[in-house]
Amino acid sequence: MRLKNRKIIVTAAAQGIGKAVALAFAREGAEVLATDVNSEKIQDLDNINQNLSTSVLDATNKESVEKFCETINEVDILFHAVGFVHHGTILECDSEEFYNSININIYSAYLMSKNLLPKMLKKNKGNIIIVSSAASNVKGAPNRFIYGTTKAALNGFVKAMAADYVKQGIRCNAILPGTVETPSWEGRVAMADDPIQARKDFINRQAMGRLAQPEEIASLAVYLASDESDFVTGTLNLIDGGWTL
Ligand SMILES: NC(=O)c1ccc[n+]([C@@H]2O[C@H](COP(=O)([O-])OP(=O)(O)OC[C@H]3O[C@@H](n4cnc5c(N)ncnc54)[C@H](O)[C@@H]3O)[C@@H](O)[C@H]2O)c1
Repeated sequence: MRLKNRKIIVTAAAQGIGKAVALAFAREGAEVLATDVNSEKIQDLDNINQNLSTSVLDATNKESVEKFCETINEVDILFHAVGFVHHGTILECDSEEFYNSININIYSAYLMSKNLLPKMLKKNKGNIIIVSSAASNVKGAPNRFIYGTTKAALNGFVKAMAADYVKQGIRCNAILPGTVETPSWEGRVAMADDPIQARKDFINRQAMGRLAQPEEIASLAVYLASDESDFVTGTLNLIDGGWTL
């Protein structure tokens, strides 16, 4: 019960990391509002845990985010997991793809944080956790041009937010996973020219020789959400099986 009675909003909670984190938060006693743009899949989380409720939310839509946040009276923690992996170099990333990744990966974090932060400031306590990536300013990964660029921006976002609000009881930290076995990762493997080789390559680049499970990311998220990490802000928390060693 490390998060007893905490009110937490999780984005991108229908699958993968967001889902594992929402379930872990609920198991730790938090009151979790799990959101996702996928209206069918997010409903799968209904009735799993009495601490967990769901809502459909496109975190890139300004009006939707504003409307959603107006319905929130109190929030302690935002866990923001929305993200999209574009495959390719700069020459394979056209303007539409460029702005699409900025929109999904950065603008969604801006919208969610901007609209929930005033509710945290009212209590002089709040906690924002953003899912970034080791593929960012930490590690240049091939064919991850705009993905790595946007995740590097999120690392700056977290530092800037932490610096601006440290005196007002707000913490802001990032989680930087290596490769995590999630449905979208399975999709990226399936799309590769040689999926069997692609799977091997993904696994081998982690020094530990395996992928992370979403539940391992959730363990770090619980720590960052809890008071155990009360002295921690502005940090970029790598969890990458040694990929960036
Ligand atoms: N899987 C990995 O290997 C890995 C590694 C590093 C970082 N990450 C990051 O972790 C986060 C989650 O990735 P994942 O692989 O667990 O998830 P995923 O890609 O399997 O699932 C993403 C979820 O986000 C939802 N979503 C997409 N656009 C949305 C929007 N506009 N508003 C609300 N929800 C939206 C989708 O419906 C889906 O449920 C992402 O930010 C990703 O970049 C993942």
